[in-house]
Amino acid sequence: MKSTSSTSSLKRLRKVLLEHYLRTHRDLPWRRTRDPWSIWVSEIMLQQTQVKTVVPRYQAFLDQFPTVEALAAVEEAVVCEAWAGLGFYRRARNLHKAAGVVMTQWGGVVPETVVELELLPGVGRYTAGAVASIAFGQEAPLVDGNVIRVFARLFALPGRSDDPKLVKRAWELAEKMVAGERPGDWNQALMEHGATLCTPHAPTCPLCPLRKQCAGYKTGEPAQFPATARQPKKQNMSVAFGWAASEEGVWLEQRALEGLWPGLWELPSGQAESEEAARTLLEKKLGGALGPEIATVKHTLSHRNVVARVYEIRGDKGSVSFKKGERVVEPLKAPLTSLAKKAIVAALA
Ligand code: ADE
Repeated sequence: MKSTSSTSSLKRLRKVLLEHYLRTHRDLPWRRTRDPWSIWVSEIMLQQTQVKTVVPRYQAFLDQFPTVEALAAVEEAVVCEAWAGLGFYRRARNLHKAAGVVMTQWGGVVPETVVELELLPGVGRYTAGAVASIAFGQEAPLVDGNVIRVFARLFALPGRSDDPKLVKRAWELAEKMVAGERPGDWNQALMEHGATLCTPHAPTCPLCPLRKQCAGYKTGEPAQFPATARQPKKQNMSVAFGWAASEEGVWLEQRALEGLWPGLWELPSGQAESEEAARTLLEKKLGGALGPEIATVKHTLSHRNVVARVYEIRGDKGSVSFKKGERVVEPLKAPLTSLAKKAIVAALA
């Protein structure tokens, strides 16, 4: 490894940040356990979802699936339903698959090493490092966006945050620095630092215990590290929803188990790049013209900006044939996609 800092100064940095973490860290529910399953679930949830969204969902998920066995025992659609609102459903599907593998190949016991953990679906280098270090106390490194930023600043490393050279360097440093006492706490200390003080745009340097040793701070512009990655432009997507409601309920459909939002429920829909095309698709599907627009909602996904319009399904309701199970009396209690929930709330308003 190129020498970023001497071993003794890395050790000093580690000690200072670890002690700071032990004194000041947030009391988060997954920090009250060493149970590997609970920690695994928290790490999967936290990968693409903010802490404030995960906190209320984490315990509910574990109440429903307290063990690997409990998750492996249900259908994938039930897991996706429990995941509703957390987004990135591939995580839920992989967690379900991985629970099956742990049952069949590991006798229901979560494996302890990075190499073994990485064999599980959805468990990459980051998650394997998190579970091995936090649950099993192994000196396993991890790197996420926060860790890259903390290292880039501390050592004034060049490169954009997604530059493979910078990422490689961060893994090398993480590997070197995880050796020592409390590896799980150390990994969390790094991430916590990036989430609380060493934040992306306006780091709180005056409160930082590493300020005096921080090469980024010395440049006078710590926030310039790392340079921001180029953002791919979000695509626009239009959704047309059909609205047919009576005392019997509101017409909902279940989405396919593959693709976006697997197994969740929504209003009958058409989806396309333009509003017109989405509406035409829905009309074709329903076999008739749609009535007036009754609500419009906007929704942002990781790669798309979505505008959804709700149209009345026209004419004689009897001409629309509802299959069994498609009428839902209390639609807002169904496992809906977040977009459908917004649209239904707007249509009912
Ligand atoms: N981000 C993801 N997992 C985390 C953890 N255990 N502590 C702090 N930040 C995290």
